[in-house]
Amino acid sequence: MTKFAPSILSADFSDLEKEIKKINKADFIHLDVMDGHFVPNITFGPGLIKAIRPYSSLTFDTHLMIESPEKFIDEFADAGSDIITVHQEATNHLDRVINYIKDKGCKVGVSLNPATSLKELEYVLKDIDMVLIMSVNPGFGGQKFIPQMLEKIRKLKEMINENRLDVDIEVDGGIKLSNVRGIIEAGADIIVAGSAIFKKGDPAKALREIKQESIVPEKDV
Ligand code: DX5
Ligand code: ZN
Repeated sequence: MTKFAPSILSADFSDLEKEIKKINKADFIHLDVMDGHFVPNITFGPGLIKAIRPYSSLTFDTHLMIESPEKFIDEFADAGSDIITVHQEATNHLDRVINYIKDKGCKVGVSLNPATSLKELEYVLKDIDMVLIMSVNPGFGGQKFIPQMLEKIRKLKEMINENRLDVDIEVDGGIKLSNVRGIIEAGADIIVAGSAIFKKGDPAKALREIKQESIVPEKDV
């Protein structure tokens, strides 16, 4: 079953308690952390994650778009993250940070920007729980899905299946009602959506609709 991870990036920051309660039928809460260096935007840090942790028992899915994430893993784990995802492009020590996150008791994800090759995952794939495929250039909500990412998702699914690994594929950026099904058919296990959920006036309804649209009919055998 596909999992859904609404990103609070597009939510009303003045009342996050209310916003988060509207999406209580989701699986994860996706938390986009941006530092103004790795991406050209600044959002929030571990203090906010800690403050909103009591509002939900859903999985907190922290997406670190920050340089040298190894410096801040303690803070993000202690704030209540269940999954911590770092960018391959943001660290010189990917293997080290993966192990550090695991030692903190969190699940670990690695994210790739749209132009980064799947080859970068070759020596870490068996050590991680999730790959986050960026389907927009990270930094902002509300951008357009990059269609070449469908092929990347398919190839990654093949790599995972060929090696019989238990690694989920999360896809993030530009996902909406009209393209979600194709993304799931390509191999996505977890769908992130920000503006498609929070900019529609009724986040609970938008979530219901995107979940409904994502039900892929069983293939004939
Ligand atoms: C982009 C973030 C995404 C973003 C998704 O840098 O990582 O999580 O918020 O937003 P939408 O769904 O609006 O593209
Ligand atoms: Zn994200």
